[in-house]
Amino acid sequence: MYTLKEHDILTYLTGANDKELFGRANATQSQEFGNGIYLRAIIEFSNVCNKKCHYCGLRAPNKGITRYRMGNETILNAASLAVSQGAGTIVLQSGDDFSYSTQSIGTLIKEIKTQHDVAVTLSLGDRGVDEYAFWRECGADRCLLKLETTNPRLYKRLRDGEEFSSRLHRVESLRHLGYEVGSGVITDLPDSNLISTLQDILFLTALDLDMIAVGPFIPHPQTPLAQVAPGSIELSHRVTAILRILNPHANIPATSALSALEPESQRLALTRGCNVIMPSMTPEDHRADYTIYPGKNASNIDITDSLTHAKSMIRSLGLVPSSSKGFSPRRNNVQ
Ligand code: 5AD
Ligand code: SF4
Repeated sequence: MYTLKEHDILTYLTGANDKELFGRANATQSQEFGNGIYLRAIIEFSNVCNKKCHYCGLRAPNKGITRYRMGNETILNAASLAVSQGAGTIVLQSGDDFSYSTQSIGTLIKEIKTQHDVAVTLSLGDRGVDEYAFWRECGADRCLLKLETTNPRLYKRLRDGEEFSSRLHRVESLRHLGYEVGSGVITDLPDSNLISTLQDILFLTALDLDMIAVGPFIPHPQTPLAQVAPGSIELSHRVTAILRILNPHANIPATSALSALEPESQRLALTRGCNVIMPSMTPEDHRADYTIYPGKNASNIDITDSLTHAKSMIRSLGLVPSSSKGFSPRRNNVQ
């Protein structure tokens, strides 16, 4: 039923046929999205997290970072700036920081939706389904909740005892609430291999997602995985290219993990099936502290440079930065 057989996916994963794979992915991308690359601005409004994921620098036990929480006014100012620079979507992202009440996040969503003609994406982690239901009523359009790995045993180990089934259940509930739903994985996590990567690809495809985000693992020095080697950029590119062929309508970002490892690799991803870019619009005084992995946010740039840089990267490829809200075309509501 899929446009690629398992055997072909495995062959592509080995890198035996990159030219053909990337060519097919790029052709599918152009067919579905033309020349447009959607700009989504991420506002990382809190780096406080109560979880202990072994791969992430924001994990609660990491005492080596300065924690911050932005207030609603600061977040709204960052959103206005992002919109004035051409972002069609505002992504509100934080660690699993439950100190923001359901109501206060709801007010934030309503304010953004009233002030601007944009889509709002929530990337807030494992908040309750009832809270997500309320935020949907407040006007939020999409949610991003990554599975990180689709192997339940690996999930439990790397997310420090959490259950894969609850995460999956949450992803499915979000869809039932009427959100566009995004998920994804990290490639080259410890104990992954080509077969587990194939399984990730098939699992994500079976979920029929609106958005799929994939990026390579990057070791963070203050985590239990500090000594693990960084993931392969090529493998991450292959995985997104295969996912593009299997999921023609999904929005697939060229993730910032790529650019943290090698800036050029994020640009290249836009010619290998990725059609979205998500620059950080987190204000200067906090952006360097959002250290999920080293190199996540350059601290020495003015935040308006962040979108300007993304736009020039897109134009350098002969592609066009798009301020559209960028819903998945299968919804028939592209605007
Ligand atoms: N390397 C790569 N990606 C990571 N993420 C978290 N830690 C790492 C890491 N060390 C990703 C996860 C998370 C997103 C915000 O960043 O997929 O969902
Ligand atoms: Fe927290 Fe998310 Fe990092 Fe896990 S990956 S520690 S939930 S910010």
